[in-house]
Amino acid sequence: MSNNNQKGDLFNQPVPDSILTEAKKLREKINDADYKYYVLAQPDIDDYEYDMLMKRLIELEKEYPSIITDDSPTQRVSGQVIDKFNSVSHSVPMLSLSNSYNFEELIDFDKRVRGFLKDAEIDTKNLEYVCELKFDGVAVSLVYENGVFIRGATRGDGFTGDDVTNNLKTIKAIPLSVTNSKIKNFEVRGEVFIKKKDFERINSEQELSGEKTFANPRNTAAGTLKLKDSKIVARRPLDFFSYYLRTNDIPLENHYNNLLLLKELKFPVNNYFKKVNNIEQVKEYCDEIENIRDTLPYEIDGVVVKVNSLKQQELIGNTSKSPRWAIAYKFKAKQKTTKIKDIKLQVGRTGTITPVAELEPVFLSGSKISRATLHNFDEIKRKDIRIGDTVVIEKGGDVIPKVVKVLKEFRPSNSKEFQFPEKCPVCGSNLEKPENEVNFYCVNYFCPAQVQGRIEHFVMRDAMDIRGLGENIIETLISKGFIKDITDIYRLSEYKEELINIERFGEKSVNNILSSIEKSKEKPYEKVLFAIGIRYIGERTANIIANNFPNIELLSSATEEKIDSIYEIGPKIAKSIVEFFRDEKGKKLIEGLKKAGLKFELEKKTIKENPFFKNKTFVITGTLNNYTRKQAEEIIESFGGKTSNSVSKNTDYLIVGDDPGSKLNKAKSLGVKILSEEEFISLLKQ
Ligand code: IVH
Repeated sequence: MSNNNQKGDLFNQPVPDSILTEAKKLREKINDADYKYYVLAQPDIDDYEYDMLMKRLIELEKEYPSIITDDSPTQRVSGQVIDKFNSVSHSVPMLSLSNSYNFEELIDFDKRVRGFLKDAEIDTKNLEYVCELKFDGVAVSLVYENGVFIRGATRGDGFTGDDVTNNLKTIKAIPLSVTNSKIKNFEVRGEVFIKKKDFERINSEQELSGEKTFANPRNTAAGTLKLKDSKIVARRPLDFFSYYLRTNDIPLENHYNNLLLLKELKFPVNNYFKKVNNIEQVKEYCDEIENIRDTLPYEIDGVVVKVNSLKQQELIGNTSKSPRWAIAYKFKAKQKTTKIKDIKLQVGRTGTITPVAELEPVFLSGSKISRATLHNFDEIKRKDIRIGDTVVIEKGGDVIPKVVKVLKEFRPSNSKEFQFPEKCPVCGSNLEKPENEVNFYCVNYFCPAQVQGRIEHFVMRDAMDIRGLGENIIETLISKGFIKDITDIYRLSEYKEELINIERFGEKSVNNILSSIEKSKEKPYEKVLFAIGIRYIGERTANIIANNFPNIELLSSATEEKIDSIYEIGPKIAKSIVEFFRDEKGKKLIEGLKKAGLKFELEKKTIKENPFFKNKTFVITGTLNNYTRKQAEEIIESFGGKTSNSVSKNTDYLIVGDDPGSKLNKAKSLGVKILSEEEFISLLKQ
């Protein structure tokens, strides 16, 4: 660093020992206060004292910047707003849990577990389970090196997640470092969540400031973790419970002790965990928890049951999706009775007509419910749902409540069957019901409701992230004729003067909208693919598609069979993509967006050289689960390695996927080293 700038001077300034000692003491005090407040819920100093400690530490660090440590409590909020989250590969995949909904299913689970143990000649007398709460939040992984929190990531697809370290650092229940610990290098996993009370507070603040409210605490936590500005995250009261520990520093024996060790390391561990000896005791635990569920300050959606011994867990093993040694017991959805005042029709962005019941408002799982989805007309017919009916509604894992059944005994004598509409309630066009589908569709692509839906989807934060184009503004722009379809967004700057003159718009907000539109042109291809709103293409599917068809020309000319053959992509998606590009309107949309300067090509990721790969030759055989062969080859090459199609004495490594071909035998006979896909992935991380 240069010596003649001010920062350089500050950095080179000698730091008196007394300052170092004072800063260290302040950090310890602040960390301890955070621990007592956020983890133990037993604060021992007041806000004023806390603020004074923090103020003094900030002062010292400002005067002597060289004393700032990564784990200083002043570093919980990073100054920078990031553009895009980096991807992080999980060393051990983050699996999900299989579900059970009744005691019989738990007994089956217990039988399976005992069966596995018997096969492995383990005495099932030694079997213990640990029961925990199933928190309704977002799973994250926290990696500590030399005792310091260095990286935090979301679960993502289980193998790769988003690097959300800066956002996780703002959570005061998460220690930034561990001190005096027997382990220094480890990974902790757990759930980020928001307490019910905090969720309500955030929602009323959102309402007051005219912003969209969140549907439930889980969505709020997930949305918050994905914010690019950790300053905003810091203002949202995210919380954390840990439920998993992995380390090579010391041998670990069982899950129960791991939870105790996590507590010792000062991680928040929920107190309801319990060790039990048999499945009957598991049931007692589940019943007990279901009874107290509503009194808990955070939302849970069930109980998790885990085999205690880590050795037994390993013997029992995992399927590709979930461990066989654990199961979630999900609580039944909450129900309430109310009356249907009316049935309205909603028109979605792809023209889908969804009937929605308007209800007499009732409170269910902490929120006021005044609407419930009726899904489609077959459902109305099947359940014989009528206006004026008294119905049972239910809120399950889904955000939107649904009508479970009609209480016919309360039906008014003059009630009439619901009449299916023939015309779109918004534009009056004909409705169509494709064969083999349950939904009716409005056939008018330019129906204002469809345009509105398409634009709302396009500008969404997870899509093109265009700020300032809220529901009401989009509606105004459509009704005033400025926007007829997505491409018109990129022509709005031509109407700047007119826009400023629209009531309530003003120059500043128009400028903000226009610059956000301009900035959206930087969004990568996979986001564009998601944003254009091809039916059935969600965020994850868009990523998979973009990786397999790295530019729009390849995608638009691909056949249904070709798209269908991609791992994880089904025929419904393949058909929808092909139909989109066959349609003139789809073609026109892509042309228009290309002209506007949007990205329709995958960006090559630049990865640093890796000494393991450098100058070594790799061959791949069989099908890899996490990469296409082309992607794996690109990764190897970007790390400085070479790839080849055939095994020879010059081959250094053969990477073996599912159903390997003859290359495997050849490699064995030549003594070429063999790598499994998992080994390959873990090498990428080194
Ligand atoms: S254990 C391999 N424990 O449930 C074990 N998960 O469907 C998986 N969850 O993604 C994690 N509370 O987000 C575990 N006490 C708990 C949990 C829990 C909530 C979530 C977690 C996970 C999902 C699995």
